[in-house]
Amino acid sequence: MSEYTITYIKNENPKEKPKSDELSFGKYFTDHMFIQDYNQERGWHNPRIVPYKPIELDPAAIVLHYGQMVFEGLKAYRTERDKIQLFRPDKNMERLNRSNDRMCIPKIDEEFAIDAIKHLVHIDQEWVPDALGTSLYIRPFIISTEPYLGVSPSATYQFMVILSPVGTYYEEGINPVKIAVENQYVRAVKGGTGEAKTAGNYASSLKAQEQVADEGYAQVLWMDGVEKKYIEEVGSMNVFFKINGEIVTPALNGSILEGVTRNSVIQLLKHWDIPVIERRITMEELYEHHQKGELQEAFGSGTAAVISPVGELAWEGTKMEINDGKTGEIAKRLYDTLTGIQYGSEKDPFNWTAKVKY
Ligand code: COI
Repeated sequence: MSEYTITYIKNENPKEKPKSDELSFGKYFTDHMFIQDYNQERGWHNPRIVPYKPIELDPAAIVLHYGQMVFEGLKAYRTERDKIQLFRPDKNMERLNRSNDRMCIPKIDEEFAIDAIKHLVHIDQEWVPDALGTSLYIRPFIISTEPYLGVSPSATYQFMVILSPVGTYYEEGINPVKIAVENQYVRAVKGGTGEAKTAGNYASSLKAQEQVADEGYAQVLWMDGVEKKYIEEVGSMNVFFKINGEIVTPALNGSILEGVTRNSVIQLLKHWDIPVIERRITMEELYEHHQKGELQEAFGSGTAAVISPVGELAWEGTKMEINDGKTGEIAKRLYDTLTGIQYGSEKDPFNWTAKVKY
């Protein structure tokens, strides 16, 4: 048997599935999961799909102490014709390997990983929900498993994929969210791990988020880690602003996550001949545009969040209401087109979808 033959142990005790219209984000998990091991002698080996269950980990495993891990997020969608498809899984696997490189984790075979994901989703296909706006969230991740308390890269790893039927990420659904600009804490610095999808970036964002949650803010907008002046991203999405008819998004700079949805939004805007520019933008500049009535829209993009309009930005004691707190025209068009492609109701001119079930 080749190192790349996936073995399968069926779950003989399948769980009851949640109702499609009662889903929020990331609470339920399907009946199976994918696991593959790594060691220095055999490289990545023993890929298997097994019943979903807690894993056994040595308490000294490096991931538990120093957070050497990476993860990804993508989704499987059920189309009106009852097919199941993924959205740009190649982009997620490319990014997983870039994160691996940053975190000193051995690279995976991207093609094989996509096949393994398709295989797993196919097995758990009944878990792909069918209500509007729902999908099966796919969480691939790699953890360092060597029991060792010295700070050095692990000699062993596990690559896993789990699946979770989801609804919208925010309680607001697809309605505009309120975001607070963060002035005290920073998420990432240039040269740090901001560009990688790794646990520490998210752990370090919790404090800031907790502080604004009571005031009704869904998340914080991060500034750059050096001058706290340039806009970077929101914890679970990249951001876009419509200023005087032009769409502006912070340029990738090494500390911003390179979102797959961000990339898709830029491509769609270009395709529609809507001016879009990736550049540095300060909060002062954004505020000035707002004062002059030139800030027409703000929205975030992400796999979990899809396109999420921002109705209010709170910054240094001022509340900047955007587009009267309503969903803007560009955000709506992007949401409709992206979800149209994802759910198969619109043509896919960029070849972004990958079939799991025909
Ligand atoms: C995603 O959009 O898939 C993310 O990874 C964001 C998040 C839920 C951490």
